[in-house]
Amino acid sequence: MSTTIADAQTPVADTGAVPDPNPFLDPLRFERRVPECTAVIFGANGDLTKRKLLPALYSLARDRRLSAGFAVVGNSRTEMSHEAFRDRMKAAVQEFLENGEFDEEVWEGFSQGLYYLPGNVKDPAYYEQLRNLLDEIAENRHTGDNVLFYLSTQPSLYSPIAKQIGSAGLAKSARGGWRRLVVEKPFGHDLSSAHELSADVQTVFHESEIYRIDHYLGKETVQNILAFRFANGIFEPLWNRHYVRQVQITAAESIGVEGRGGYYEESGALRDMIQNHLLQVMATMAMEPPARFEPEAVRNEKAKVLQSIRPMSRDDVRTQAVAGQYGPGRVGGHELPGYRQEEGVDSNSQTETYAATTFYVDNWRWAGVPFYVRSGKRLPKRVSEISIEFAAAPHALFAAQNPARTPNLLILRIQPAGGISIRFDAKKPGEGTQLRGVSMDFHYGSSFGTHEPTAYETLLIDAIVGDGTLYTRQDMVEASWAAVEPILDVWGNSKQRFPNYRSGSWGPEETEEMLRRGENTWRKP
Ligand code: BG6
Repeated sequence: MSTTIADAQTPVADTGAVPDPNPFLDPLRFERRVPECTAVIFGANGDLTKRKLLPALYSLARDRRLSAGFAVVGNSRTEMSHEAFRDRMKAAVQEFLENGEFDEEVWEGFSQGLYYLPGNVKDPAYYEQLRNLLDEIAENRHTGDNVLFYLSTQPSLYSPIAKQIGSAGLAKSARGGWRRLVVEKPFGHDLSSAHELSADVQTVFHESEIYRIDHYLGKETVQNILAFRFANGIFEPLWNRHYVRQVQITAAESIGVEGRGGYYEESGALRDMIQNHLLQVMATMAMEPPARFEPEAVRNEKAKVLQSIRPMSRDDVRTQAVAGQYGPGRVGGHELPGYRQEEGVDSNSQTETYAATTFYVDNWRWAGVPFYVRSGKRLPKRVSEISIEFAAAPHALFAAQNPARTPNLLILRIQPAGGISIRFDAKKPGEGTQLRGVSMDFHYGSSFGTHEPTAYETLLIDAIVGDGTLYTRQDMVEASWAAVEPILDVWGNSKQRFPNYRSGSWGPEETEEMLRRGENTWRKP
């Protein structure tokens, strides 16, 4: 069979996703109508529901961004009445609301749509009760039988729940509604478990109905990377290996593991932050312009970046990756314990709380440019940013008076206080030509003067509307597991000399060495 033009244009990663005929999907993600629906939250007694999901849903209701009949069904094993669940969620929203004020009257209306159905999610009988409750809600609140299932339980329950939803016939609506599945991170523990999990949920839901959440993609400043790059003509010509010397992506946290020792012991910084959040940020920064601003076109381009990451050999891992674990230290006048002294952590733990890696994206745009990516807990401050260093001017005209020059940096600040800065040299006023580094700044807060929606507000609305642009697809998740797996293998099979950095410092000494090999140094944000 000869190759046609249409064949040649088939995306590299054919995930079987079909173009979405969804009438709610506005390609510009703007002024969208939000359909009626019920969200079923599995794991509704957990931390994520209290801290993020319910506060986000309440904010959306308050800002009139949800439909009037919107409903939530909470599930966990704990016995509780609808009323007790509403009380618990009210306290959670009052404590964790990030945007605006809590309003009693809005809560009264919103909480009428909150239901609770306790039960064992492995028991088929549970899904019969769920069906009855969903039917009742569809009838009373006119939800059109649309249902968003949200998996926020321990990850080992993701497959069993998806399969039970399928066996109970709940993955399809008998009345023309839609059914979708949102899956919280971690999506797998390594490449093969992520592949297996996708295969399991795909026996029940089509890939286009599966929404793998990565909350970094919902952050305003991460979304703004695309606007910055593709709405302006001045940056894109420089956005390649001819002009960019190096890229640094940092997610530093000042907190420790905060009572999540049990989870973190199984995870570590590479799995917790780099495999998902930071590789997604890197893909957004490095992708080619998509043909259209619509989910599959955007995700095809991100997938290509992740698939172009150069695989590391065992020897590469020794020079391109650094693991760290925090010891005790003094931060802001407080003595803090080391990771091994935290609750739920083994006193000889080999889990890394800091990870730094050097990735290369082997394609025409980025060949040879190092992408340094790091994340750690108990660092001096909470800051996430991308810093892009441009090549120096080809001839240093002012070198005699100014031997040390400021590199030209473009800094995309994700948090806190999102914004964009450009660093360059300027002449100091007065005689002679003395240079000094200065910066030109854009701050989200002062330029727009409006509150930013939280990442969960954005992502929940997207899932309800049926827009997967900011969700990860199977091929993206698998490519990012493939990129970190050699590092996980080497680290998992060698004994590290931990702890190797003090709480409140910028990580282990070896991390500076990694950059020195490329004649670079880490930026101190
Ligand atoms: C989560 C990680 O996904 O992201 C946490 O599990 C981490 O360990 C958190 O603290 C960071 O998110 P944010 O939005 O505070 O940068």
